[in-house]
Amino acid sequence: MGNTDYNEAVMDHFRNPRNMGELKDADAEATVGNPSCGDVMRIMIKVSDDKIADIKFQTMGCAAAIATSSMATELAKGKSLDEAEKISNKDVSLALGELPPIKEHCSNLAADALRLAIANFRKNKK
Ligand code: FES
Repeated sequence: MGNTDYNEAVMDHFRNPRNMGELKDADAEATVGNPSCGDVMRIMIKVSDDKIADIKFQTMGCAAAIATSSMATELAKGKSLDEAEKISNKDVSLALGELPPIKEHCSNLAADALRLAIANFRKNKK
């Protein structure tokens, strides 16, 4: 396997992204960009009982950015805000069976956008 070859799980999430699209009645959202490549990800969350009841993403980015967005939303869905907030980029990449080393940074987008969306939700509530 070369440096940029993706494993099956990554390819599956890239080809069939889960939770992709727009969440019309979102309670909060966040958009995060990766300055090194210019890729951008937007996460929208619907919260009920302090849990992530629904979550969707829109990502303009590389295959790894799309696959990690998809996996991050899968990991976060149904979790409490406190739990979801702790999802790290490493959790996302491990859940995908690891990314090629030069694509590891791409998983930061998803984890950062998720954390920021939760922070925005808490801010809006106050
Ligand atoms: Fe930009 Fe992957 S190259 S997020």
